Amino acid sequence: MTQKQRLLHVLGGGQWQVPTIRRARALGYRVLVTDLYADRPGYAYADYHEVMDITNREGTLSVARRYGIDGIICDTTDVGVPTAAYVAEKMGLPGIGYETALRFTDKYRMRRLVAEAGLQETRFAQAKDAKELDAAAEYVGFPLVIKPVDSQSSRGVHIVRQAEQLRPCFEDALRYSKQRRVLVEEFLPGTEATVEGLCVGGRYYTLAISDKAHYAHRPEVARRLTYPAGFAPHVLKRLADLNEAVVHTLGLTNGVTHAEYMVNGDDVRLVEIAARGGGSRVYSHIVPHVSDIDVLDAYLRFVMGEKLPQPQAPRRRAANLEFLDLPSGRVRAIHGLEETRRLPGIAEVLLEFGVGDTLRPPGDDRARPGFLLVFGDTRAEVLERTERALLTLRTEVA
Ligand SMILES: Nc1ncnc2c1ncn2[C@@H]1O[C@H](COP(=O)(O)OP(=O)(O)OP(=O)(O)O)[C@@H](O)[C@H]1O
Ligand SMILES: [Mg+2]
Repeated sequence: MTQKQRLLHVLGGGQWQVPTIRRARALGYRVLVTDLYADRPGYAYADYHEVMDITNREGTLSVARRYGIDGIICDTTDVGVPTAAYVAEKMGLPGIGYETALRFTDKYRMRRLVAEAGLQETRFAQAKDAKELDAAAEYVGFPLVIKPVDSQSSRGVHIVRQAEQLRPCFEDALRYSKQRRVLVEEFLPGTEATVEGLCVGGRYYTLAISDKAHYAHRPEVARRLTYPAGFAPHVLKRLADLNEAVVHTLGLTNGVTHAEYMVNGDDVRLVEIAARGGGSRVYSHIVPHVSDIDVLDAYLRFVMGEKLPQPQAPRRRAANLEFLDLPSGRVRAIHGLEETRRLPGIAEVLLEFGVGDTLRPPGDDRARPGFLLVFGDTRAEVLERTERALLTLRTEVA
């Protein structure tokens, strides 16, 4: 029987890919996971695994051919999105197309295409060396944001307010860029929003919009995402319309998207968009809860050759993803964990630390100490449930 089960290739075996791997198995597929590292949590849930850098297109293609895969997916991480598209194209499997994948994973190309389409007037420039950096900063003006064109998790992303900070921030951003290119762009003030959606046969469906709050010490790293976003209806419409226009401009016809915008009064500006699901449970848990549309299921079926179903009108419920903001120091005790888990609406409590570990202020997304995932019917309800959970879960730090 097993031989007849079709084989899905999942790029990446980290904790954010675990829900994808498990769901694929539940749908009756066999799963092959490839990852750069020999020891990954996702391997335990897969039928097969191989150590392979997911940015290595040819290497991944040869593994995929050797196993005779029926479909390939890279979700919740941008790193392997071009590779998945490349392998799919070479093997004649469903995918978003290699060219499309490049447009969604290179922040400079993304900005250029969006500007050329007349959708945005955000100033930006690219820099590979000190000379280009000075010219870019001169053109964009301070404050500005500097970031690798091709990274994620806020690594190497910096808000630069003064000329003296320019060089060190550039060096840091460059360190995280595989292509050794950095994007310099206007600092966009306001409240950040995320938009999740699904594209089926060229038609776009907006499934969930959140607003975000950030850590005080590092405003580039998200601390809270609340659904539905607390913006006025006309701003929500502007977000959905702009997002749809960006998706069409970048050429996606079938697939899922995860995008970030800055909202300043009525003004809505693109930060970035990805042609994959959002990590941190956003697309595996939050989008299905708030919209009633199982986007992970739909996307898995699509990459395995089934037609993406047209989503029904989404139902609207609420969720809050709260990353913990804890004092620095050594963890002496964790109180109330099980009690917190039993509170109404608490879908998950994930702690990335234990007693004896040392907590430091997170410098990027991956260094956040843990999160609470809270579900409910309304925004007010999930925020109230979160407050209660934060009072119940107490971390003693010395
Ligand atoms: N031009 C900008 N103006 C203001 N804030 C910005 C700007 N660019 C980025 N940021 C802030 O920094 C965060 C990280 O930037 P960006 O999304 O471009 O990088 P990333 O590495 O892809 O991060 P992530 O994987 O966390 O989404 C944004 O979500 C936003 O909060
Ligand atoms: Mg981002």
